[in-house]
Amino acid sequence: MRPAAPFTRRSLVAGLVAAPAVLAFGRARAGGAYAFPLGVASGDPAPDGFVIWTRLAVDPFAADGQGGLSAPVPVRWEIAADEGFRRIVAAGEATAVAEEAHAVHVEAAGLRPGRPYWYRFTALGQQSPAGLSRTTPAPNAQADRLRLAVASCSHWERGYFTAYGHMADEGPDLTLFLGDYIYEYSLGPDRADQKVRAYGLEEATTLAGYRNRYALHRTDAHLQRLHAAAPCLAVWDDHEVQDDYSGIWSKVAATSPRDFLRRRAAAYQAFYEAMPIRRTRLSAAGEMPIYKQVRYGALAEFFMLDGRQYRSRQPCPGGPEGGKGRIVADGACPDRLDPSRTFLGFDQERWLYDGLARASAQWNILGQDLVMAGLRFARPGGDDTYWTDTWDGFPAARDRLTRALSQLKPRNPVVLSGDYHSFWTNDVKLDSRDPGSPTVATEFVGTSITSTGPSHEALSAVMPDNPQVKFFDSRSRGYMTLDITAAGIDARYQAISDVRDPKASVATLRRWAVENGKAGATPA
Ligand SMILES: [Fe+2]
Repeated sequence: MRPAAPFTRRSLVAGLVAAPAVLAFGRARAGGAYAFPLGVASGDPAPDGFVIWTRLAVDPFAADGQGGLSAPVPVRWEIAADEGFRRIVAAGEATAVAEEAHAVHVEAAGLRPGRPYWYRFTALGQQSPAGLSRTTPAPNAQADRLRLAVASCSHWERGYFTAYGHMADEGPDLTLFLGDYIYEYSLGPDRADQKVRAYGLEEATTLAGYRNRYALHRTDAHLQRLHAAAPCLAVWDDHEVQDDYSGIWSKVAATSPRDFLRRRAAAYQAFYEAMPIRRTRLSAAGEMPIYKQVRYGALAEFFMLDGRQYRSRQPCPGGPEGGKGRIVADGACPDRLDPSRTFLGFDQERWLYDGLARASAQWNILGQDLVMAGLRFARPGGDDTYWTDTWDGFPAARDRLTRALSQLKPRNPVVLSGDYHSFWTNDVKLDSRDPGSPTVATEFVGTSITSTGPSHEALSAVMPDNPQVKFFDSRSRGYMTLDITAAGIDARYQAISDVRDPKASVATLRRWAVENGKAGATPA
C-alpha cells in the first residue's frame, strides 16, 4: 500500500521557491508533472571534471520506488563556464533508466583544474535547477585555501535541515557527508512527541523503501541548496542500511548474513543512485566499493573511508535483538581484542596504508564515520568498559592504523568523524590505552544535522578519564567548517539555534586551530 505522502506536490514546489538562487530554472512546464523535484548535485571532483547528478521523478514517493517513470528517458546535460550558461564547455546526452530509478550520473571530464563550473539538465521538455561545482586544483598546484563543510546524521523526523542551508551559505569549496545521510527507521509511537515532522514512509528495508527515503530527503529545500552549491564527497555509516549493522551481520542476530545481504544490497544500490559518486556496482558478493582518494592540489589529500561494509562482526553483540554494539568490559569480551578482527577490511586497510605511504600533500584528511580516538568508561574496582560500535570495538585494527600513521609519517593527518551526534576535539594517540603516547593525528567529530545527541552530563562525567578528548559537547546540532591553508586549519563548530525551528539561526560554538607540523588542535 502506498504510504501517505508527507506533503502535497504544491507544498513541495512552494518549498523549492524558498531557495531562489539555484532553483530559479525550469519550474514552468507544459502538461506533465515537474521532473526535477529532487534537485541536482555534484561530487567526486578531479582536476579535469566531477560527477553531475540528478534523478528524474514525476511521483517521487511512488510505492514501487520508480518515481512514476518506467520508459527510458533521454537527458541532456550541459556544463558552462559562467552562471548564465553563455559559455557551454561540455554537453551531452545520457539515458535515465528504470533499473537505476532514472538517476543520472555523468562523469564530466576535459575541464580545466581549480575553477567553478555550472551545470544543468533538460529532460521531458523541462529544465532542471542549475548547480555550481568545482574542479580540484592540478595535482601539484599550490591552492591557497580550501573551505570544507562537514555534515553527518540527518534524521528527518528529528527536525528541519536548516543546518544544511547554513552550510550552503558558507560557500564551501567541498562538502563532506560522513554518514547517516538517511535513517532507515521511524520514531515509534513511544517517541511520537519527539517527532518534528513525519516521514510518512514505512521503515526502509527494500530497494523501493530506500529509494523513497533518499527521495524524501532530496525534496528538502535546504539540502537541495547545499548540493547545488558545491561538490561533495560522501561515505555511509550504519543508518543508510540498518542501525549498528557490522559487515554482513544484521543487528538482529536471528537474521542470517545471507538474508541480511539482500537488504544491504538494496540499500547500497539506492545510495549509489542517490549520490553524485562515480560509477560503482554491486559485486556478485553484494559488495559496493565506495572508499576513495581525492587530491586537492598540493594542499590536501582526502581518504574517504568505509567503516561499515567490510568490518568483522560486533564483538560480543547484544541488545534486545542480539546483534547490536554494546558497552563491554575488557575481561568479559576477549573477542574485542582479537587481532584478526578488522574495521576497514584488509583490502581497504592495505589501500589506505599504500596511499598514506605515497602521500605528498600538506594535509592528509581521513573522512570517515566513527570516532577514532576512543572513549574509556572507567569503573572503580573493575575493568574499563568500551562502546563497541566505534573503533573501540576494533582496537587491533585501530592500532594497525595508528602505527601506520606513526611509521609512514604522512604530513599533518586529520581525522573527520561523524556518528556520535556531538562535537569532540581529540588527539588520536599511537596507543589509545596510553594517554602519554605520541599524538599521531588530530580528530574533529562533527555533531548531527538533526539527530539527538547522547546525554551531555553522562558523557562529560567520563571525560576526566579520557585526556585524549580535549572538548566534548552533545547539546548542539549543526556542522563543522574547516578553512585549510598551507599554514594551518581554522575549524569552526557551527551550532544551529533550534532544530525544531524552520528558520533556525547559526552561531559558532567553538573555534580550533591546527598548525602545520603539529598534531592536535588548540582553542582559537
Ligand atoms: Fe547518526
